Amino acid sequence: MKICCIGAGYVGVPTCAVIALKNPQIEVTVVDVNQARIEAWDSDKLPIYEPGLKEIVDEVRGKNLFFSSDVDQGIEKGSIIFVCVNTPTKLSGFGKGFSADLKYIETATRRIAKVAKSDKIVVEKSTVPCKTAESMRAILQAGSQKDVHFNILSNPEFLAEGTAIPNLLHPDRILIGCLETKSGMKAAATLADVYAAWTPREQILTLNLWSSELSKLAANALLAQRISSINSLSAICEATGANVNEVANACGLDSRIGPKFLQASVGFGGSCFQKDILNLVYLSESLHLPEVAEYWRQVISINEYQKMRFVRRVVSCLFNTLDGKRVALFGFAFKKDTSDTRESPAIALCKYLLAEGAKISIYDPQVEAGQIYLDLSDKTADICTDAYGAATNAHAIIICTEWDEFKDTNLDYKKIYDSMVQPAFLFDGRSIIDSERLCKIGFHVESIGKEAKVPSSSFTHRHQISQSF
Ligand code: UDX
Ligand code: ADP
Repeated sequence: MKICCIGAGYVGVPTCAVIALKNPQIEVTVVDVNQARIEAWDSDKLPIYEPGLKEIVDEVRGKNLFFSSDVDQGIEKGSIIFVCVNTPTKLSGFGKGFSADLKYIETATRRIAKVAKSDKIVVEKSTVPCKTAESMRAILQAGSQKDVHFNILSNPEFLAEGTAIPNLLHPDRILIGCLETKSGMKAAATLADVYAAWTPREQILTLNLWSSELSKLAANALLAQRISSINSLSAICEATGANVNEVANACGLDSRIGPKFLQASVGFGGSCFQKDILNLVYLSESLHLPEVAEYWRQVISINEYQKMRFVRRVVSCLFNTLDGKRVALFGFAFKKDTSDTRESPAIALCKYLLAEGAKISIYDPQVEAGQIYLDLSDKTADICTDAYGAATNAHAIIICTEWDEFKDTNLDYKKIYDSMVQPAFLFDGRSIIDSERLCKIGFHVESIGKEAKVPSSSFTHRHQISQSF
């Protein structure tokens, strides 16, 4: 059997690398129109950082995992075609800002229709709005050569960046959506066999095509909703003296609620959550369900509010002006263990800080300087090679990403404190440091969802701050 994957990105490559590893008898080829990306996958420096991925790619590349920019040949040879292209939010036209832009899916689907000379199972892996499979079927049927048959399956990906490899190796479940026809069920069984090489059968669910498509949006919306819920509570904690970590822990111990995804933060980011909720909002509006649309829209609103609220706290603490002051950002990726910056809360924070006249220094262990400049559409930020360099001469530090190296057990915060302008402020947007301990060093510490920790010598200052809120 041969599998072809269209799209050599965050979804396509980790998925195919694991499929190739676990199915040595299957030849897997990942194709992409972006020649540079394909070359990078064939080199020693992979284009994305994902723990554990390089080891697997090194093991299977050239054996049964191949990268190629010859999209047509890949399609021709594969009997199963995974469509893993990007589906960004539309920037103009109907549904602008909400609906998914399906142009890449459509181009890839038209290519499959044109090139295929034998029957194919086409697997929709990119996150797509409900009923996209139907559009794909229409394109495939209209554009294909005579006697070529296609079965379309929805097989959404639940991998989270930073943990993609363990998520793929030990999935909670695999969804395979298919039409309830004989050939649809047969195609689903063929794909199920690929996953069954390492996943217990009872975790592979075959379901209705549209349920499968909606389940992906629904799972992401429910997860993001949990974060917005805890983030909304973090605002109450800061105002009352409650501690959001204690609240999250207390609630998470209720087995009906559970402990995961209750980590208060400066806001959620990533390529999926916002996009998928916007998609759900658009879908609800298209179905004339404005109340449902409004309900999900609130999850995004709280996320925007959380980022703005955090910067307001920074401005307020720094005596209501950032003009000319240096602010160091620890972390730029949307979460730890990834180089991905898509929708990273750090981008919004930087834009607010720049608008306030701050000078910013940024250090992230994995994000390249060029990517940061691109995200900020601004070249004035100083990109540093370590946390110490970023903090030197800064008035404040903001922890934006929860990289382990920023924990107070891993960085010399005394050295950092000594290199900063006094009074030195530390804003922990991820609640990863021991604020008590850093306060003892001399920092004025403000953590998400917690009261400020102010060194005793600056009591008056604290009093002024609470008045200015
Ligand atoms: C998500 C889904 O988890 C995954 O199943 C889906 O396939 C793609 O979208 P991802 O975006 O890679 O994965 O990361 P995730 O771990 O879900 O984190 C998303 C954002 O939420 C990050 O910015 C993260 O920092 C934030 N987050 C997560 C919190 O702020 N608090 C939490 O408790 C958890
Ligand atoms: P994701 O996070 O969904 O994997 P990425 O942007 O990382 O998204 O990857 C999607 C990849 O799909 C990109 O490398 C892009 O070049 C590729 N792509 C988009 N359209 C096509 C197409 N028609 N044919 C081949 N590759 C495509």
